Amino acid sequence: MAGHDVADIDSLGDLRGKRVLVRSDLNVPLDTAPDGGARITDDGRVRASVPTIRRLAEAGARVVVMAHLGRPKGEPDPAYSLRPVAARLGELLGSDVAFATDTVGESATETVAGLDDGQVAVLENVRFNPGETSKEDEIRGAFASELAKLGDAFVSDGFGVVHRKQASVYDIALHLPSAMGGLVAAEVDVLRRLTHDPERPYVVVLGGSKVSDKLGVIDNLMGQADRLLIGGGMVFTFLKAQGHEVGSSLLEDDQVDTCRDYLARADETGVEIVLPTDVVVDTAFPSGDREPQPRVVAADAIPADSLGLDIGPESGAAFADAVRAARTVFWNGPMGVFETPAFADGTRAVAQALTEVDGLSVVGGGDSAAAVRTLGFDEAAFGHISTGGGASLEYLEGTELPGIAVLSR
Ligand code: 3PG
Repeated sequence: MAGHDVADIDSLGDLRGKRVLVRSDLNVPLDTAPDGGARITDDGRVRASVPTIRRLAEAGARVVVMAHLGRPKGEPDPAYSLRPVAARLGELLGSDVAFATDTVGESATETVAGLDDGQVAVLENVRFNPGETSKEDEIRGAFASELAKLGDAFVSDGFGVVHRKQASVYDIALHLPSAMGGLVAAEVDVLRRLTHDPERPYVVVLGGSKVSDKLGVIDNLMGQADRLLIGGGMVFTFLKAQGHEVGSSLLEDDQVDTCRDYLARADETGVEIVLPTDVVVDTAFPSGDREPQPRVVAADAIPADSLGLDIGPESGAAFADAVRAARTVFWNGPMGVFETPAFADGTRAVAQALTEVDGLSVVGGGDSAAAVRTLGFDEAAFGHISTGGGASLEYLEGTELPGIAVLSR
């Protein structure tokens, strides 16, 4: 996997007066503020994007930030506007950030032309243009060449999106002198430590709802990790594979055989797959209309009328012990529906244990990074909190990430 053989920002030379297009990942969760406007509920990715943008601005570049928000359908949609995110970026930078109301149109051209050395602009959501995510190389390439007219150089700093072969991530690098930003470099550095001779014991904690999202990574980790602790919604497919009934818990019927195969392979390869021994259940998924009624039951005795919503206290303690005993830990995916306090204890126990690891502890982005912040943990207590959920998993799968590979051409 490319990493240190890729050009860094210094290789772009003197940036004073140059227009530098930066791809950041500013894809943050939003809800509605009391005044009806959009409110960012977790600005972690915006904060993580600041150092590279600031560095370029301090070097005198005219910085043009490209980013996406959500998955709009290739046309402008106000619900996915980056305007509130650009405002947050300005607050964090402590300077005005110009905002272009389109991606490559009149507003973008004028906004970029109006920048002075050291100033920053954000373009509207690149996914408002169908060229950004098109599967056709030509269509993506055409959009990338329009974007390229707005810059003299390209810096790839959106780690969370480097696994996407998209115009502002991949094709743009074919048009401009390109470099890897500091955030992508730092993320790749940590992931390399996980995949190149990790200190042992190496424990991986996987959660989240679907086994099918994690097949590649489980396959690859079977040959690398010492222990695989499994929680979250995906655990019920494993419990089913062991022959247990799981009530109305989340279940991927078509993955039961795959899970059975993993359990058999674990026995053969010596990797220990650890499943919860108890779970917290309720008779309904949490909703605003009803007080949760959590009950702890044995993992092999989930009542028919109930569904599992968290790992139980005995399992939380066992997972935490295993994490604390490790020298290298990677964690991706919450252990339960942590957004509801009644089902947050399993995720909290794992997060707490990660802060106590004597070695490298990595929170693998997405929901687990959000969980760490939502549950009030000090981010500095973890070795590394990745900004990329899908991207870090694909790295660990051993898949080539197009947004990184293109930089080493
Ligand atoms: C993410 O949220 O993982 C990244 O921003 C990528 O977003 P995507 O999954 O919509 O491509």
